[in-house]
Amino acid sequence: MANIHIVGEGAIGLLLAQHLSQTHHITLITRHKRATTYRYQNQAGAQAISCNTSIANEIPERSIDTLIVPVKAYQVIDALTELIPKLTANAHLILSHNGMVDWSSKLTTLEHAQSAYFLSTSIAGFKSANTVHHTGQGATWFGPLNASAECHYLDVFSQLFGTFENAQITSDIMPTLWKKLAVNIAINPLSALEQIENGQLRQPKYAGLILNLMNEVQLVAARTGVTLALSELVTLAYTVMAQTAKNRSSMNQDIANNRRTEIDAMCGYICAMAAQHHITVPYNQRMLEEVNKR
Ligand SMILES: NC(=O)c1ccc[n+]([C@@H]2O[C@H](COP(=O)([O-])OP(=O)(O)OC[C@H]3O[C@@H](n4cnc5c(N)ncnc54)[C@H](OP(=O)(O)O)[C@@H]3O)[C@@H](O)[C@H]2O)c1
Repeated sequence: MANIHIVGEGAIGLLLAQHLSQTHHITLITRHKRATTYRYQNQAGAQAISCNTSIANEIPERSIDTLIVPVKAYQVIDALTELIPKLTANAHLILSHNGMVDWSSKLTTLEHAQSAYFLSTSIAGFKSANTVHHTGQGATWFGPLNASAECHYLDVFSQLFGTFENAQITSDIMPTLWKKLAVNIAINPLSALEQIENGQLRQPKYAGLILNLMNEVQLVAARTGVTLALSELVTLAYTVMAQTAKNRSSMNQDIANNRRTEIDAMCGYICAMAAQHHITVPYNQRMLEEVNKR
């Protein structure tokens, strides 16, 4: 049984807490002191999630063995800044978010035996009050982000995510992250701007824009050393649109509810990387500007 800390009390954090609490001891790191019961709800019914809570200030330095960071892309750096000093010398740090974040400078502060991993997941859930509703079981990928993790990722995967539905392991997580980024860029901004369900993006009037967005992602990925086939990206995006046809994307919901979006970690990341490599990405630039205007 491992002691696992999970940042936040969000949808993905609670879904992971519910799964991991079957065999491990879970502590949620919340922003404020909480004396509450979190609940997990799926089609089979509801159940309480077995976990404790703690605020970061109460956690001693060098005391966290395993830390999972399932927060919004724009919250990752602050969470790492606050919590890396709390990691033990042999700790496992697991990032999990949509979009791309440049956490490289934070990961270089890890000691040589501290391991960093990425958990890329398409499970779906939303939170209302203290209940997380599990609404979909997409693919999950787990892989190492540093040299220490390369030695441990097989064991850590089997200990934590071996029984997680549709979970797979990879020694090279970056192509997986780029493919997820491409799918998010095909679906999130346009569905948010048009305020439509994912399946409605399959209308022919959106096809040209989606293809151009994917083409730019593929070009920028190639410049960073990740080779992706445009045909695979397009097929993936349309498959996800079909599988989630009745869903509203997270960005669609964020805009509808006047919440901050993760556009900077999606189209914004493509624009920033394109600028570094002196290429133009007008379609991603347009999506970035239009979403940020809302
Ligand atoms: N929900 C889904 O179905 C789904 C599916 C796949 C991927 N994802 C991705 O997974 C990531 C997390 O999504 P989510 O829906 O779970 O987001 P969320 O519901 O907003 O959960 C994030 C939680 O972390 C908390 N938090 C952030 N920084 C913190 C810190 N430093 N200390 C303590 N608490 C902190 C947030 O608190 P505040 O609310 O106070 O900021 C919030 O409770 C996102 O990148 C999302 O795109 C989500």
